[in-house]
Parts: sequence; C-alpha cells; structure tokens
Amino acid sequence: MHSITKTFLDVVANNNVDFRLYEGEICALLGENGAGKTTLMNILFGYYAADSGQILVRGERVAFSSPHDAIENGVGMVHQHFSLVPSQTVLENIVVGSFGGKFFLDTATAKRKLLDLQNRFGLHVDPDAFVWTLPVGSQQKVEILKALYRDASILILDEPTAVLAPLETKELFATLRTFAAEGRSVVFISHKLNEVMEISDRVVVLAKGKVVAERKTSETSEKELANLMVGHELTKQPYSPSRKTVAPLLQVSGLTVKNDKGIVAVKDLSLTLHAGEITALAGVSGNGQKELAEVLFGFREPQRGSVMIGDQPLPLGSPKAAIESGIGRIPEDRMTTGLILDLTVEENLALENHTKFKKGWTIDYRALRRHAEKLIEDFSIKTAGPGAIAKTLSGGNLQKIILARVLSASPRIIVAAQPTRGLDVGAAEYVHRRILEARDAGSAILLISEDLDEIFMLGDRIAVMFEGEIMGIIGRQEASIEQISLWMSGVKEKCA
Ligand SMILES: Nc1ncnc2c1ncn2[C@@H]1O[C@H](COP(=O)(O)OP(=O)(O)OP(=O)(O)O)[C@@H](O)[C@H]1O
Ligand SMILES: [Mg+2]
Repeated sequence: MHSITKTFLDVVANNNVDFRLYEGEICALLGENGAGKTTLMNILFGYYAADSGQILVRGERVAFSSPHDAIENGVGMVHQHFSLVPSQTVLENIVVGSFGGKFFLDTATAKRKLLDLQNRFGLHVDPDAFVWTLPVGSQQKVEILKALYRDASILILDEPTAVLAPLETKELFATLRTFAAEGRSVVFISHKLNEVMEISDRVVVLAKGKVVAERKTSETSEKELANLMVGHELTKQPYSPSRKTVAPLLQVSGLTVKNDKGIVAVKDLSLTLHAGEITALAGVSGNGQKELAEVLFGFREPQRGSVMIGDQPLPLGSPKAAIESGIGRIPEDRMTTGLILDLTVEENLALENHTKFKKGWTIDYRALRRHAEKLIEDFSIKTAGPGAIAKTLSGGNLQKIILARVLSASPRIIVAAQPTRGLDVGAAEYVHRRILEARDAGSAILLISEDLDEIFMLGDRIAVMFEGEIMGIIGRQEASIEQISLWMSGVKEKCA
C-alpha cells in the first residue's frame, strides 16, 4: 500500500501510509485506539476507498471497489465485529456468495472441501451447527474458514484474540503458523503486546494515522513497543490492597439462571460483594458469568434466588430498578447492549443517567454537551466531537464511552465485564486506575475477566466460576496462578 490517505469529514484516519506485507510473514499492526488500523485494513479489503494512494498485490496495481473484489484477489478479513448470519448453519455461512455460478449448491462437495480445510488448519467446528448456538471462539473459526474456503492468500485479523480464551488463542496461533508456512501472509491486529511478540515476524506501529515505526519482532521488546505506541514507558501497576474497611453491600443467594438456550447456566450461586473491595471473577467465558451479570443488570430473570443490596431486596428483571439501586453496568457485548450506535456520542454518554439532564419537558442540551466534553477529555475518547454518531468511532473508543459513562456516575456497585477488552495499553492502564479509585471511594466492584493479569492486578478477592458454580474464592495475598488455573479447569481442590 503506497501513500494511503483516508479522511472522514475532518478526521484524518490514515495519513500518507506506506504498508508492505511480505509472502509467508505474520505482520502485527499496532497502535493506540483510533490510530487508524481498522481503517487501513478496510481499505485493503475493499470496504473503504482511499482518498489517494495505491495498492499493489504481487506487483500488480489493484483497485478493489468492494470486499467481493478483494476476496477474488485472495484477500480475506475477519472483522472486530463478526458478520455471520446467526440463523444459518456453519456450512451455509461459509459457502454463501461462492456457489461458483451454479443454481444449486452441491452440499456434499462443499462439505468435503470444508472438512478438508478443517483438518489442514486445525479449525474444528460442526458444519451443520447453527451459528447462533456457537460460542464466540467457534464463530471466529467460521469467519476464518470462510476466508480459507475462498482460498485467501492474505488474511487480515482485526483483534482476533480479544474474544478468545488463552487456550483458543494458542489454537489460533497454530492455525496462523500453518497458514504462513504455506507462503501466505497474515496481518494481525492486537493490543496484547505479549501476543504480538509471540506470533509476529514483523511489527508496524501506527500513531495518529501515520506509520511511526517498523521493527523485526526478534529485534524489539514489549517495552519498546509500548513506548513507540504511547510515546512513554508503561509501568505495570502492582496490586494495591484496599485501604477501606470492607462491609457487605450486595448479597446474591441461591441464584439459578437459565441461558438463552434454556440450559441452566448459573447453579445455586451465592456471592457477597463488599463496599470498598474488588471481587475478581475469573473463568473462561461461557461458564455463566454473562448470565450472572445480566441478572444483576435486570436483563434476565432467574429461576430461583435473590439479590439483596444492603437490607433491601433488588427487584429482579428490571433494568430500571438495577440502575436506581446504584448498579453501574459495563457489559461484555458493548455493541448490542452497551451502546446505541445510531445515537450521538453525547447521548450515549448520558444513557441510564439522562434524567439528570431533564429540563422541564425537554433536555438541557447545553448541560449534556458540557458533560460529554468533560468525559471526552478525561477518558481521551477519540471522536470528531460530542455530536458525532457513535458508530463512527473506533472499537476501543466505543468501549471508552461505556467506561466513562459508568465510572463518572460513581455508582455504589459496579459490575464490569471484560472492561479493558479492545483498549490499547495506555487506555487499559487508565481504566485500571479509575476502577481502583472507585473502589477506594467505597464502591463494591465485581470484575469479570478472562485476563489473569487483570484479575491479579485488581482483585482483592479472587473467585473462579466454572459451569455455573463458584469453584472457590480466595484472598489476593493467598492466591496463586496454579490455584486459579486449577479451579478454572473445574477441579475443586485447593492447592497445598
Ligand atoms: N466510518 C467512519 N466515519 C467517521 N469516522 C471514522 C469512520 N471509521 C473510522 N473513523 C475514524 O477514524 C479514526 C481511525 O479509526 P480506526 O477504526 O481505524 O482505529 P483503530 O486503530 O482500529 O482503533 P481501535 O484500536 O480502537 O480499534 C478514528 O478517529 C475513527 O473515529
Ligand atoms: Mg480497530
């Protein structure tokens, strides 16, 4: 890609970018939230047209006018947010659009080709399963298979590991290595520097729409990369214990909850959250954490059980009651239940708290704007302005809107699911600091995370959820990685 420039109204997303991808390499694309990574790759994938610049594939100048063109030329992309059809099967999702000119799909041949690819790349998903029944990790495999089915020789993965458990990440890396060993190329976008160090051959760093550095992975370090991205060195904060005396604030008792498929996802669970303390809930996604959080948010009614806040029962199944009881909500699925993408940034920043901006029959838009301007500044949200439509923001900046909204309202209780998913290292550090501040100001916090670094850095107590149950709960000082991993894999024993 030569001298690529792309502007959206007054935002310069890519500024004269030169980007090369070599045969058989895995190239990591790094940069802060809003640096222009997704935009650059969307241009390569024919999803956006550059304002200026050229793209050459194997020396030939190309002008992709749509992703269809890019796919025809061997470029495949798995987006930050998937684009599968949930009501169709895996096979249907994979072959859609590539029938090869016939009227009917030759299912048997298609299936054979798919199974062959699955074996070759170690990507196993049942071809006949409906996509909506699959966990995100498998949905991602479907997206990758879709690209492989079209014989992609360039595979772009936009933050693929953000939604994967550590074991799934290992599997994905094995697939990528096989892919690259065949002389094909990968662009790997991630904010996790340890992953970048592990999987890539080369790193390109973007900042404010420009390429600011290029390194061979073997000749750089996590430290240098953080420095190049953020412009200063990052210090990983050590764990700092709660300074407040903790007192029970929220009590979950005997909670049993079914998931969307009608299967019991939370089994007779009891848990107490204390004011001034962070309870970190570790566990692989899909073990009932989401359903537990949804009950606390009032989105889902349990089969049995109760939730008490202080000495008041929390009316279940009412988001309004949850908000009024002072529960701040950082949901895992930001695109669907966290934000309204067609509303503006300032409107999204006021959601769940909009009554504060009531002025007679209408809304005090000036107060709304002041509120938004302050939060945009505090959380360094990269946007054209408070009036910008939310969906024009980058992935990490969308996450920042939710965090700003919740943390600025100083709720008594915060339920935070994967709060730093998709954030660059600098932003993640800031959010960790804000969560600790909320704790020290006396909030009771439930931190749900798959990231053990995060769990150990923030949790005052660490609990582990497995198949709907709490396997164990332990103070941060006594906890070890071995113990937590044991519980995460479903073994109830305590390490010696
Ligand atoms: N469709 C669009 N309309 C308006 N602005 C856009 C659009 N797409 C991207 N932008 C802007 O371009 C800039 C770069 O966004 P991009 O999504 O490429 O960032 P990114 O590096 O992928 O960030 P992240 O790590 O948060 O995903 C951002 O300021 C974003 O708001
Ligand atoms: Mg992005």
